[in-house]
Parts: sequence; structure tokens; C-alpha cells
Amino acid sequence: MPSSFATAIVVGASSGIGESMVRKLVASGTRVAAVARRKSELDRIAGELGDKVLVYPHDVRDYDATPALFERIVAELGGCDLIVYNAGVMPRVEEGEYDFAKDREMIEVNLLAGMCWLNLASALMEVRRAGTICGISSVAGERGRRGNPAYHTSKAGMTTYLEALRNRLSRYGVSVVTVKPGPVDTPMTKGLKLPLMITVDQAADGALSMMRAGTGEGYVPAVWGPIMWVIRNVPSALFRRTNI
Ligand SMILES: NC(=O)c1ccc[n+]([C@@H]2O[C@H](COP(=O)([O-])OP(=O)(O)OC[C@H]3O[C@@H](n4cnc5c(N)ncnc54)[C@H](OP(=O)(O)O)[C@@H]3O)[C@@H](O)[C@H]2O)c1
Repeated sequence: MPSSFATAIVVGASSGIGESMVRKLVASGTRVAAVARRKSELDRIAGELGDKVLVYPHDVRDYDATPALFERIVAELGGCDLIVYNAGVMPRVEEGEYDFAKDREMIEVNLLAGMCWLNLASALMEVRRAGTICGISSVAGERGRRGNPAYHTSKAGMTTYLEALRNRLSRYGVSVVTVKPGPVDTPMTKGLKLPLMITVDQAADGALSMMRAGTGEGYVPAVWGPIMWVIRNVPSALFRRTNI
């Protein structure tokens, strides 16, 4: 497995865990294509890090534009040894709220657009018989919890999709890595009181060490492994009565 990557695409690179991964990849010598909607934030990051960062403003829901953009990035970057699909949204959902517009955005950004980007990367890497694909999923994908049904669904879908990609691509020498962080202190979780919160740098370090090791699927931090084992095994009848 690669201890470092010559080229990487980070989708969802303009803040939080994605920004931290861009910084750490560049520090280890990687040329990075940074993709997100906010050009000003991407320019700020590239301004600090120099010409190892190439900036591509893009809304991941613009599916029709994605294949040509992916092709352009690979040409301009000079390859794609690693792709990280990190883009995500988690709008606040109130008790009793069933807002399809919010649900649609979460499914589109967190899952559907991830399939669009990672299908393109899979096709390229399968032919090249090399590469690493990573998706930032979440502990939130392990049970259907009452607080935000669509967010949990999007992450469960991402985890399953990545498992299927891994089962397809491992025979071609391509690594598929599923990172399942617990709560991380980022703009997404601003104002929320969540247990065992870690910093963006801790989350990025944990994710990147999994990518470098080619770990199939894992939690960041690892303490979520036993915790989620218990949560996955809480009987449904009991789970319904909890607020977790
Ligand atoms: N924070 C946590 O506790 C936590 C825990 C587990 C998993 N995660 C996952 O980690 C990932 C990163 O989240 P974060 O916490 O670092 O939050 P964040 O700072 O809000 O980052 C989200 C990233 O996604 C991008 N994005 C959102 N909508 C997009 C769109 N339509 N098109 C292109 N890019 C888009 C944002 O860029 P623009 O707004 O510039 O487009 C930003 O770069 C997400 O997938 C999240 O679900 C987070």
C-alpha cells in the first residue's frame, strides 16, 4: 500500500475535515485537486499552500458536468492516485419535521454525487489496476436514528456502496477505504453538543492513516468500534425508546 500519494482529488475540500486533509496531503508532497462550491475558500487554502493545490469550484449536484471535470482534473493533475469523497451536508432537522428539500440535498450531496465521482474514479483505476478510493461516511450510517432520518440513510448508503466497490475493485489492486468518524468539531457540528468530539486534524490524521494503510473500513477514533458494536446490537424494540 502507498505510504504517500503523488496526486489526489479531494471533493469537499473547502472547510472542516476536507481542508485539513488537503493541508496534510500537501505537507506530505501530494499534488491535490481541491473541489467544492466556495471558490473564495478554495483560493484561500491554495493561497496558503502554493502551486501544489489546484482549485476547481463545482457543485457536486451538477452531475452532467462531473465526467468532463473529472477528466480535466486527471489531465491537469497528471494522474489520480487517490480520490477522497468528503462532501457532505447535515442541515438541522427538528422534531416532527419532514422536509423533502433537506432530505433531497442530503441524499444528493452525501450519497448520489459520491457515486457519480467514485464511479468515474473506479472505471479509471480498474483499467490502471492501481489507486485508492476513500469515502468519508459516518458512525451515523450504522442505525436509523430518529434525529435526522435522511442523514443516517445517506451515510448507510455510502457505507454499503463503498463495500460493494471494494468487493469489485480489490481484485484489480484498487483499495477502497470507508472512514466512519464519530463527532468532529467542524462547521457542520457548530453549536451541537456531541460526545467524544475530536478536532479536524485528528479526524484527517485518522482518515489519512487508513488510506495509506489501505484499511478497508474503520472508525475514527478507534474507540467508536466497540461503541458501535453495542449500538448495532441494541434490539429495535429497545432502540425505539431511546434518543440516541
Ligand atoms: N463533523 C462531524 O462530526 C462528522 C462526523 C462524521 C462524518 N462527517 C462527514 O465528514 C464530511 C466533511 O464534513 P465536515 O464536518 O468537515 O463539514 P464541513 O466543514 O461543512 O465540510 C463539508 C464540505 O462539503 C462541501 N460541500 C457541501 N455541499 C456541497 C456541494 N453541493 N457541492 C460541492 N461541495 C459541497 C463543502 O464545500 P462548499 O460548501 O464550499 O461547497 C465542504 O467543503 C461530510 O461528509 C460529513 O458528513 C462529519
